[in-house]
Amino acid sequence: MTTSGNGERRCWVVGSINQDIVVFAERLPRRGETVSGSSSLMFPGGKGANQAVAMARLGARVAMIGRVGRDAFGSGMVSFLENEGVDVGGVRVLEDAGTGVALVTVDASSENTIVVVPGANASWAEGVSGFNPAAGDFVLCQMEIPDDVVAQVFREARGRGAATVFNPSPFSDKARDLVGHADVLIVNAVEAGDILGRELDFGDGAGIGASPGAIEAAGALGRLGPGVLVLTLGARGVVVFSEGSETHVAGVPVAAVDTTGAGDCFTGAFIAAMAGGAGPVEAAHFAVRASALSVTRRGAAASFPRLAEVRAFARR
Ligand code: RIB
Repeated sequence: MTTSGNGERRCWVVGSINQDIVVFAERLPRRGETVSGSSSLMFPGGKGANQAVAMARLGARVAMIGRVGRDAFGSGMVSFLENEGVDVGGVRVLEDAGTGVALVTVDASSENTIVVVPGANASWAEGVSGFNPAAGDFVLCQMEIPDDVVAQVFREARGRGAATVFNPSPFSDKARDLVGHADVLIVNAVEAGDILGRELDFGDGAGIGASPGAIEAAGALGRLGPGVLVLTLGARGVVVFSEGSETHVAGVPVAAVDTTGAGDCFTGAFIAAMAGGAGPVEAAHFAVRASALSVTRRGAAASFPRLAEVRAFARR
């Protein structure tokens, strides 16, 4: 598998930066219930920052455009991104807002719930600065920053000949209008149903095969405009729709301990591979392996693998 390493096609993330506060418990509490947890940890997070780190760890040249507050969480996140090799010249430190915080609960089956308080991620009144993509670059956005910022970034990116990558997470109705701006669309099953406006039947989730419903949904989403569509199916892998045909890339069975950020790891790894010259199906094989490795460790960005580890895993 090739990934960029040479930095020819730069990757830009315009997105969120959060401090994750994570608690681990046997099971998630029900409404109104208190449960005992086993441990609590602080991790770097935010869908934007996570995707930037996934790409940087896999050899891509990455710039992050985002917002943090002037507080300990913000300075910690900026240092973390810098240490990971992400260009943080486009990260602004705001005086009047706190760094975004995500409260994550992870249960014994590795699933999670997340509450995000956006803080500085919501403050873009002074516009996007430090954003200077060239033709052929990739520009990634998610939905943890205002939708009008995403629309502006995608328009500017396309105007400069860069490829736009949209991961509409967490989904809101505004995301539907942004799909038409995306050259690459990466969605999970829930987001796919929300975009298509209908219930999707992907079978019972057993095994690692994609159901006929998932293949059909990938085709329907692909026809909305993106040149490349990836429908992620968790442990069952992904369906890639490109050049008029759908390809299922199977999941890789692993012992999962924490699935937080697995989708971010997939998205970052997929684009890192494409920036290095891989086609969509080859990139999906690579990214499925990267995200499988990420769920075997705790945390979001902190759990993401480096290039040598993914290569070694792919050879097994
Ligand atoms: O996708 C996982 C991320 O969602 C977490 O890191 C958390 O910060 C939230 O943004």
